[in-house]
Amino acid sequence: MLKPNPTVASMAAYALPDISAAEGVEPIVLAQNEHAFAPSAAVQRVVSEAVASGQLYPDTDWTELREAIASVHGLDAGRIVCGAGSMELMSSLMLAYMSADDRMLMTEYGYLFMRTLSKLVGAKVDVAPEIDYRVDVDGLLARLQPDTRLVFVVNPGNPSGTLIHNDDIRRLRAGLPDDVLLLVDEAYAEFVEPDFHAPLFDLAETSNTVITRTFSKIYGLAGLRVGWGYFPEEVRDQLRKIINPSSVSSLSQAAACAAMSDQGYAAQARQMIAEQRGLLSQAIAELDLSVVPSQTNFILVDFESPGQATAAFDFLRQRGLVVRPMGGYGLPGCLRITIGTAEQMALTAATLEDWKDGVGD
Ligand SMILES: Cc1ncc(COP(=O)(O)O)c(C=O)c1O
Repeated sequence: MLKPNPTVASMAAYALPDISAAEGVEPIVLAQNEHAFAPSAAVQRVVSEAVASGQLYPDTDWTELREAIASVHGLDAGRIVCGAGSMELMSSLMLAYMSADDRMLMTEYGYLFMRTLSKLVGAKVDVAPEIDYRVDVDGLLARLQPDTRLVFVVNPGNPSGTLIHNDDIRRLRAGLPDDVLLLVDEAYAEFVEPDFHAPLFDLAETSNTVITRTFSKIYGLAGLRVGWGYFPEEVRDQLRKIINPSSVSSLSQAAACAAMSDQGYAAQARQMIAEQRGLLSQAIAELDLSVVPSQTNFILVDFESPGQATAAFDFLRQRGLVVRPMGGYGLPGCLRITIGTAEQMALTAATLEDWKDGVGD
């Protein structure tokens, strides 16, 4: 029999959510933190134009895309690396820097994909508790080990949706030995009002810190798979040895360039999502359920018990609303709900109210 790599053979399949609704019901999927809106007309146009050159390989240097990103964020384009989603950048970083002799330190509710990656390379994982669903910098620093090689923080967090101040991330960096790599996953950063979130990119120029971002969230290109990161030059060079240079298709690059150049769309989306997030959070709070204050395009609802969370999940699903159970994150009493359109959010609030009222019992 064909034998896989023993590490891979011992791993469980990556846990993907079941996003089907009850039979015969058209699902409204609020389980994957996808954007509520389709890409702009400008993005759709450039993608259809790019198909005409589909016989050619994509630009393996992401030249235009890196320039577009650098110009919006005031960065050095030379330090930007793009990938098929930020997941690809995380995988490559893990392969380039981590082995069975190393430890990764992350927070309690940090993105689970990183745990899967650490298993792949055999690295040990240490976990620092979060306080009130927030990253705790002191907790992280207290758990540093001599063989900690990578510290991973998601800000704003998923599934918490909470934000810690970037001054705290700087304090974390200052408390780490220079040769520890700090990875800050900012997949949801663009949902935060810019005034509250001073950029952190300079850390990649002055220390072993990597900042990753994605086009999957506020730019609404999850299906096109484009992420990017800002890297120290040395880390960039290692990463580029192993990253698939053609993984971001020419259509995806064209779409991401157009999306980056249309900051008006992103600003409008940020405002609309914030408004709907506020309305849904308030409606849920009025049902005497606890909502973790979020800065992202999702909210975490904390039910009285795991049984209540499961009952609410089933009730929503019967009505076609597919949200995300959080048992995989060790939060069986919570559901995560992606912020969608005004209509979807009104339906979600009304359905949760029906559930609370015992309709359909
Ligand atoms: C915290 C976090 N990081 C990274 C990602 C992956 O994003 P991408 O689509 O860029 O691979 C996600 C996706 O949901 C996420 O929630």
